[in-house]
Amino acid sequence: MSEARPQFSVDLCRIVELPKISDPRGNLTFIEGRHHVPFDIQRMYYLYDVPGGAERGGHAHKALHQLIIAMSGSFDVLLDDGRNKKQFHLNRSYYGLYVCPLIWRELNNFSSGSVCVVLASNTYDEADYYRDYSVFLQTIGGQP
Ligand code: TYD
Repeated sequence: MSEARPQFSVDLCRIVELPKISDPRGNLTFIEGRHHVPFDIQRMYYLYDVPGGAERGGHAHKALHQLIIAMSGSFDVLLDDGRNKKQFHLNRSYYGLYVCPLIWRELNNFSSGSVCVVLASNTYDEADYYRDYSVFLQTIGGQP
């Protein structure tokens, strides 16, 4: 009997190439909800002035879908669905990393002056977070 596959896994997380209108006056990129990202965009937030060596993330979301973009500079994103991990290096404002629900994420290795923009499928709700990795693993039935 085959093991049931979890609904959400790191295999669903992927780099999305965004439209880029190249122009000698400066390039332009745009993002439309349900077109370039598989969700309606309800919120945008950004991380900036990140000190050297700092780490962000360290949590998973129960239902939130997100697109993470290195709007300026670069950083690494480690994704973990409790079974498999995937590491991404983001350094272009016309690529986004789509992250589905139930993925533990850690962001680090921020370059000086980098800006991390996140588009999210819902407004902020602390009840949507798993902030304890062992609770996250227990809930999804993953392997430590
Ligand atoms: P958190 O999501 O833990 O940040 P990160 O994953 O980037 O490290 O949020 C940090 C704090 O900011 C936490 O107290 C919740 C608050 N917050 C909001 O009030 N609204 C938001 O939209 C977000 C993303 C965070």
